[in-house]
Amino acid sequence: MNKMTTLHSVFVCIALHFIGTVNTLKSLQIHVPTAVLTGYDAELMCTYELEGAQLYSIRWYRNMIEFYRYVPKESPATKVFPVAEIKVDVAASDQNRVVLTEVDRTLTGEYQCEVSADAPLFHTDIKAAMMVVVEPPLTSPNVTSDRISYIGGDHIRANCSSPPSLPAANITWYVNEQMVPGFTANHVLNYSNGYASSLATLELEAAVHSPVPTLMIRCEASIFDVWRSTSHTIVLRERSANPASALGRSFTGAATETCLPTIMVLLLQFFLQLLQRYSGTSIR
Ligand SMILES: *[C@@H]1O[C@H](CO)[C@@H](O)[C@H](O)[C@H]1NC(C)=O
Ligand SMILES: *[C@@H]1O[C@H](CO)[C@@H](O)[C@H](O)[C@H]1NC(C)=O
Ligand SMILES: *[C@@H]1O[C@H](CO)[C@@H](O)[C@H](O)[C@H]1NC(C)=O
Ligand SMILES: *[C@@H]1O[C@H](CO)[C@@H](O)[C@H](O)[C@H]1NC(C)=O
Repeated sequence: MNKMTTLHSVFVCIALHFIGTVNTLKSLQIHVPTAVLTGYDAELMCTYELEGAQLYSIRWYRNMIEFYRYVPKESPATKVFPVAEIKVDVAASDQNRVVLTEVDRTLTGEYQCEVSADAPLFHTDIKAAMMVVVEPPLTSPNVTSDRISYIGGDHIRANCSSPPSLPAANITWYVNEQMVPGFTANHVLNYSNGYASSLATLELEAAVHSPVPTLMIRCEASIFDVWRSTSHTIVLRERSANPASALGRSFTGAATETCLPTIMVLLLQFFLQLLQRYSGTSIR
């Protein structure tokens, strides 16, 4: 602590002692991004109402160490202290805002904003918030499955892996473009350098009489709301136990190009299933 701060603290104590709970500093709020991608700028904001009092100072701290001070009565009003790898864009910063340029992982931490009103009260308030600097994975997540086709009732298992990132990515599964809800069973592998990779396993049981003869499975990896990437989609086809299904499969090849063959395939498969059910023939 320097002399100025000590003197200031003494004033605050004396002022509070005489004035008690009188409050001239209202609704102090801190707005720090929860997450920022490495290499990007981060804008930290502090809003407050002084209710007629003058501003004495704004101080910003990272993990309790002051790196930015704005005192309107001093010239220059802005002081930046060398803390960690923090780079402040002074021209873009003022009594409400501090802009940190090209943040890196070392800047992850707790940021605090302290506002002091001027004499005679020197009322002071402080608020804190966490910011995480994200280093995303270098590639998209990868999905693999233990089979390429299925028949109704089969157990299907798929893995999704997201390469190392900081912090570990969250994995979300999609089956036929429907999000699989409540799926949070992420296995996280920690590495000594702080990075972590994620692996998630999806287990499905194929419906016995599904109107759709395919299962499209993909996964998405995300880190807070600053990074998101999807895997490729794996398409599993239902094998009909009926030998005539060879015909169905030849149609399925064209199904991705136009709409009409898709409907024909669906009708054909439905018809085959009906036929199979009523004739009682099954080669299973
Ligand atoms: C996905 O993982 C499989 C099995 O480990 C591997 O053979 C394949 O190359 C990977 N694909 C991509 C796009 O990384
Ligand atoms: C999924 O991952 C587990 C554990 O790493 C492995 O044993 C299994 O073979 C994988 N399955 C597929 C389909 O990749
Ligand atoms: C990996 O690291 C995270 C965060 O530090 C921790 O919560 C988790 O327990 C660790 N997981 C393992 C398997 O060590
Ligand atoms: C992962 O998801 C949980 C639950 O939605 C969320 O609280 C957490 O912040 C997410 N973590 C990351 C790294 O995105």
